[in-house]
Amino acid sequence: MTGIMATPPPLVVALDVPSLDGAARLLDRLRPAVQWFKVGAVLFTAAGPEAVRMVHAAGGVVFLDLKFHDIPQTMEGAVAAAADLGVALLTVHCAAGPRALEAAARAARRSARLRVLGVTRLTSAPGRGGVVRAARTALAAGLHGVTAAAGEVRAVKRACGAQFLVLTPGIRPAGVDAGDQVRVATPQAAVRAGSDFLVVGRPIAAASDPLAAARAIQHEITAAWERRARRTGVDGATREDGAPPSYVAAGIEGASSG
Ligand code: C5P
Repeated sequence: MTGIMATPPPLVVALDVPSLDGAARLLDRLRPAVQWFKVGAVLFTAAGPEAVRMVHAAGGVVFLDLKFHDIPQTMEGAVAAAADLGVALLTVHCAAGPRALEAAARAARRSARLRVLGVTRLTSAPGRGGVVRAARTALAAGLHGVTAAAGEVRAVKRACGAQFLVLTPGIRPAGVDAGDQVRVATPQAAVRAGSDFLVVGRPIAAASDPLAAARAIQHEITAAWERRARRTGVDGATREDGAPPSYVAAGIEGASSG
């Protein structure tokens, strides 16, 4: 026993809309149930840092998914700027190479709350080739984790350790259209595999009732997490390998999904 009160992995809802007003409407509808929000290329390009500030003002936690892929000095400056915005999660591309990833890890130390994740391979691409190698590169450079498909979580954790964060996009509840995503998984499959954060966009944003869709996914996450905890026999405080859930160990605030 670790004594850590663990919680289910958070649902992160992608605010993939091209205006601050549209994002504000979605945020307002979801905020009663959802704490974590993704600000990505669509919203950030349209509305800039104001989108991040808006989520923070509503009491939310931000995953800034801008997937930086640049030379080391630019990487360092961009990550430093994100750290100063107060976001909790940020993505950079593993393909930028070890020196650029080291620069990102260095800049991330400006903020106690920021965790930088390396993008291994987009979930819209077929095949899992190179995912574990990219994760090892991220770990060696000092990043906190990676993004990968749910089907790759176990392999990444085996290679990089249970504490190494894995965020999984490409989440689709059973029966929901995959769209352009290829390496998809249901929420319960992602939880069973050990995902630390589940990112969901269109299945919530495009639903007729986004709040109900978010709550349904959270119920599925919680039920799967409780089953997993029962299987481990340690009331959810530790994972199968005895290590605490990595987002708890990483000290990330607001890790609750509801
Ligand atoms: O709408 P959907 O649920 O497919 O949204 C998934 C979100 O996760 C999108 O915002 C996408 O940019 C993001 N993402 C991804 N694959 C990654 C990293 C982030 O799909 N490897």
